[in-house]
Amino acid sequence: MENFVDVIFARRSIRKYTDAPVPKETLVTLLKAAMAAPTATNAQPWEFVVVTDEETLEKLRSGLPFAKMKAPAVICVLGSERMQRTAAGFKFWVQDCSAATQNILLAATALGLGSVWVGVYPITLFKRHVQRTLNLPEGTNPLNLIFLGYPAETKEPRTQYEERRVHWGAFPGQSASAASGTEARRND
Ligand SMILES: Cc1cc2nc3c(=O)[nH]c(=O)nc-3n(C[C@H](O)[C@H](O)[C@H](O)COP(=O)(O)O)c2cc1C
Repeated sequence: MENFVDVIFARRSIRKYTDAPVPKETLVTLLKAAMAAPTATNAQPWEFVVVTDEETLEKLRSGLPFAKMKAPAVICVLGSERMQRTAAGFKFWVQDCSAATQNILLAATALGLGSVWVGVYPITLFKRHVQRTLNLPEGTNPLNLIFLGYPAETKEPRTQYEERRVHWGAFPGQSASAASGTEARRND
């Protein structure tokens, strides 16, 4: 895709995949994209588990009700207290790891792969299942599983732009609300 913004519009959650494996070098490219993401104070509070063996993939699927996709590869994005470079990771790991996740999703789209983000954190049951299945060490916290593979379904590129969600400049201030008598009721 020539225009990067077109990649953003083309990224969709893909839940049907062919059996074709994802080459290791492609997975490494995705991990490089992940680790290029911005993080608070450059803490990089992350680690990644790459799963391609069918037995472990099936175990992951079995304990997660919204993760039944037969994808040939999964990247689990972990918040990592044990490897974070600064203490900012304690506060910002979710945002940092989400930025890394989005980089993976967009890079996958650009490389012709399908992907879907499966949420784990903050659902304790999902987190325990992933911790047990992947033998996660102390000081790591699974944010999500990213299912990846070559797509066996197509979805239209799209933006979900809605003008009503955009506010050019500040919201009206308190005094303006009181004067009109309408703004204060707006969110009742
Ligand atoms: C935090 C988060 C958790 C999600 N969890 C799941 C999930 O468990 N299973 C799933 O199939 N999709 C999951 N999704 C994907 C959303 O359903 C999807 O992004 C949304 O419906 C919009 O569709 P699109 O990705 O095609 O734009 C998740 C997305 C996010 C951001």
